[in-house]
Amino acid sequence: MNDARQNPLLPLELKSVALTIGGRPLLSGLNLKVTTPGVTTILGHNGAGKSLLLRLLHGLGTADTGTITWGRQSVAATAVKARQAMVFQQPILLRRSVAANLDYVLQLPHARPILSRKQLLNLASLSAVASQPARTLSGGEQQRLAFVRALATGPDIMFLDEPTANLDPDATQWIEDLIKNARAKSIKIFLVTHDIGQARRLSQDVIFLNKGRIEEHTDAASFFHRPKSAYSQQFVNGVLPASPQSAQ
Ligand SMILES: Nc1ncnc2c1ncn2[C@@H]1O[C@H](COP(=O)(O)OP(=O)(O)OP(=O)(O)O)[C@@H](O)[C@H]1O
Ligand SMILES: [Mg+2]
Repeated sequence: MNDARQNPLLPLELKSVALTIGGRPLLSGLNLKVTTPGVTTILGHNGAGKSLLLRLLHGLGTADTGTITWGRQSVAATAVKARQAMVFQQPILLRRSVAANLDYVLQLPHARPILSRKQLLNLASLSAVASQPARTLSGGEQQRLAFVRALATGPDIMFLDEPTANLDPDATQWIEDLIKNARAKSIKIFLVTHDIGQARRLSQDVIFLNKGRIEEHTDAASFFHRPKSAYSQQFVNGVLPASPQSAQ
């Protein structure tokens, strides 16, 4: 990995961050400091608050209390948001050709492209379908396009919310290769996944969320070999959480 370039948006720091919606505390007492480059993976059961946390980190929505800073700048700063890009589980593509989807992003005022359209198409192996309407691509192709489109602005931070959830092993491998490629460009990645194998393959550190709280934040080797809390042990070992029915 090439860590030579200092990432201007690190460290990420959260202090006493909480979010309540409709009287439900969805995130609470979040204190976190992420200093390391590479892939930080956010794990946890459905509804643990992973997507909500990712959105707050990207400045999509505001916490009720607490502070989030990137490289000591507020998460709300335009200059911070402009250096970040997000890829969602369901790719959101423009009703244009594959090439036009990339062109649109490459000419944005805040873009600092590190790769040309041709290089991005090559990287995602989409050169042959460059003039095809983006929405006619297969699911795996659409996700590759969404990924290189996010990469096109030359971000310092990428947020990936279950980018391989609907993909087969080959298509998943493609996205994992793209993630490694971005990591080698010193782009810091925050990855949400339910794929434990993927988390083991890619993570430098792991944040384990449980019911809106950070149960554990540790380096990946420690997390997978010696998870600290009972919840994270069960999660790593694939033990299903007790359902409300089983408690009756
Ligand atoms: N806008 C909202 N209004 C009310 N509740 C919300 C809102 N957004 C999320 N929630 C609730 O917050 C909780 C956490 O949601 P979130 O989407 O972050 O979970 P997640 O960990 O990403 O789960 P999954 O693995 O299923 O994607 C859920 O119980 C959800 O219903
Ligand atoms: Mg989610």
